[in-house]
Amino acid sequence: MFQSIERRPPDPILGLSATFKKDTNPNKIDLGVGVYKDESGNTPVVSAIKKAEQKLWQTEDSKSYIAQAGPEGFTRQMAAMILGEDSAVLNDKRACSILAPGGSGALRLAAEFVSANFPNTRTWISAPTWANHVPLLSSAGLDLVEYPYYNYDKHEIDIDQMMDTLKQATVGDLVLIHGCCHNPCGGDLSKEQWQAFAEAAEKQGFTPFVDLAYQGLGDGLEEDVYGVRLLTEKLPEVIIASSCSKNFGLYRERTGTVTLVGESADQVSASASQIVSTARQIYSMPPSHGAAMVEIVLSDPALKAEWITELTGMRERINGLRSQLAAKLKAVGVEQDFSFIEREKGMFSFLGLSPEQVQTLIDDYSIYMVKSSRINVAGISSSNIDYLTQSLAKVL
Ligand code: LMR
Repeated sequence: MFQSIERRPPDPILGLSATFKKDTNPNKIDLGVGVYKDESGNTPVVSAIKKAEQKLWQTEDSKSYIAQAGPEGFTRQMAAMILGEDSAVLNDKRACSILAPGGSGALRLAAEFVSANFPNTRTWISAPTWANHVPLLSSAGLDLVEYPYYNYDKHEIDIDQMMDTLKQATVGDLVLIHGCCHNPCGGDLSKEQWQAFAEAAEKQGFTPFVDLAYQGLGDGLEEDVYGVRLLTEKLPEVIIASSCSKNFGLYRERTGTVTLVGESADQVSASASQIVSTARQIYSMPPSHGAAMVEIVLSDPALKAEWITELTGMRERINGLRSQLAAKLKAVGVEQDFSFIEREKGMFSFLGLSPEQVQTLIDDYSIYMVKSSRINVAGISSSNIDYLTQSLAKVL
């Protein structure tokens, strides 16, 4: 049976980690996969999560299945974190969150829901977008079309082209938009641009599908959901896929939510029942561990404060590295203007290198990044930034 199977090429992002691990150069730098790293290059367990895990170990008295939609405390806390404690859509029961296995699991469940119930939907995705959006969403049956998002020459959002193209998005269409910390370009919509996007959705009737994988890593937990909240206040329907991988550091625990905002409590609970039933068809029951720890952290004021302090530290480290990288590139005499790195948000920015330059950095300098020249800023540290900027200067 298996003799006819062809080998797939390695994943464009995950494949880099495997090559990096094998590299014996002591100066090697991993700017590939989007995982937060501290000054020593480690991805530590968040301290509030470690404490929650200890509490869970002491109190958890069964490993029996949990509720299909996830623990009520977890989904309520997540919905409040995304939509706001005093959110009108939550008070009116026009919103509900469902536990999903990570942000990708949430994207997949939402995609399955849309393609099963609205087979003629077109889904607009930004160009560029996260490399895995296309295989993940199209294999769930979504018909994907692109809208321009990033101007690679100016290193800014191409808002005119984006809004112009999105004039074609209409009732029954989904528009996938990154809630904050755009992956891969780091360019986020300003408040005015969110307003324009929300007005277009209202006027044209398309449904925003927000990928919220980095809440708290751009400008702050509240600031990063400005756009999401605006959409949910203004529009009858919004779908949000959120992740606890980066902000809670729960990568391998696969913890996220799909949040539905609808016109009425009844429509939302009917739609949620479809999502839960889709999950049942694919993997039957949700994972519990990550959600249980997030629930403990968010329900305990002291642990929550500890987590927010740690998250603030991660964000400030990334933002500090952004400024340092831009300044050091200038200091080593690089002529191109890299000040955009400082303006962009979250883990990623494009350096604007050619695929050949990226390959030279990998082959000759052991500096690993995605072919598009997307870098994970969190992979930089005070011990590697000089080697990085000097190597970049040579390659440029
Ligand atoms: C990334 O973009 O590097 C992260 O979201 C990790 C992944 O799964 O691709």
